Amino acid sequence: MQDDQTLKAICYQRGSLSILDQLKLPDESSYIPINSVDDAWKAIHTMSIRGAPAIAVCGVLSLAIELNNSRSKFDSVSSVQQFVTAELNYLLTARPTAVNLTDAAKTIIDYLIPLSNKHGNVSSYIDELLVFMEQFLERDLADNRSIGRYGAEAICQNNTNHKKLNVLTHCNTGSLATVGFGTALGVIRQLAVNDALQLVYFTETRPYNQGSRLTAYELLHDRIPHTLICDSMAGFLMQKEPIHAVIVGADRITANGDTANKIGTYQLAILAKHHHIPFYVAAPTTSIDLTKQTGNEIVIEQRPSREMTSIKGINIAAEGVQVWNPAFDITPAHLITGIITEHGVFKPDELEEKLLSLKEVQ
Ligand code: MRU
Repeated sequence: MQDDQTLKAICYQRGSLSILDQLKLPDESSYIPINSVDDAWKAIHTMSIRGAPAIAVCGVLSLAIELNNSRSKFDSVSSVQQFVTAELNYLLTARPTAVNLTDAAKTIIDYLIPLSNKHGNVSSYIDELLVFMEQFLERDLADNRSIGRYGAEAICQNNTNHKKLNVLTHCNTGSLATVGFGTALGVIRQLAVNDALQLVYFTETRPYNQGSRLTAYELLHDRIPHTLICDSMAGFLMQKEPIHAVIVGADRITANGDTANKIGTYQLAILAKHHHIPFYVAAPTTSIDLTKQTGNEIVIEQRPSREMTSIKGINIAAEGVQVWNPAFDITPAHLITGIITEHGVFKPDELEEKLLSLKEVQ
């Protein structure tokens, strides 16, 4: 279905990394080589690559590329450690809201010291670090497949009266936002595979149009029955058509279940509550940030005004107008029916406990 090259956001093999330039989609499918951490920083910052899991994997692999291709500049294991830590911290400044890259950076930094006890030799140390970093690719794909299965099962169980479901999603959470398959869009893919999907409605997702440009591209590619709506049509849609679930992704979920996701998610959650429609967040556990208690602590990225006032370089607003352009909003936990993770579907108020017990087992 979606495992071919067309929807591959990240192409990696040892020593070579390129990303699909999502600024050019859907008109042009072209890849940008990423030869350094600096290249990745720019690609993340300008949103040539976007989506929380894809940002994390691109950042990690750019570091793997730089480590592999400049081995000769390291004369000790500790010089590798210092370099890796500094570069990861730099990557984190590219975009502030999604937590997945922070989580990946912590995992890698935690691995540096125990690994150095095993390897005095710089080259074998780098080799094992590369293998560790490369595992992020497979893990993301495997997590997404599990999210898809758990999500589709939970949503169908909640809707035993209907054989085929209409769902609504927002932004792009598919193969393009991840290593493959996707999170919320992965659940929708799985519903389609299970022959349980009637139609997916999806929003245009202003101002960057991840819906009309990227989700549309994926749904057309996979031949999934779909209908595009403007963001402002969601309320009327819920009044007029049976919608059985809203499914969105996440950039950061705090300990109490509050969820930062693409701007416009919060209003969909309010509308869903009003219309008694279950509202699901689908995300890997790497999107959960237990260091923050509530959504108030999340830094919301502000994007440049031109992303709102122009499309493909053409002005669509009066010249000189003042704008407010937050990239994300926070959906309070009480509006969320379930958080679909690779370990199962949790209620927001049981999330912290479940995650802590999973960490104990690992
Ligand atoms: O600004 P973007 O395009 O990076 O925002 C993407 C989203 O908000 C997604 O819903 C989220 O990152 C999850 S992607 C699996």
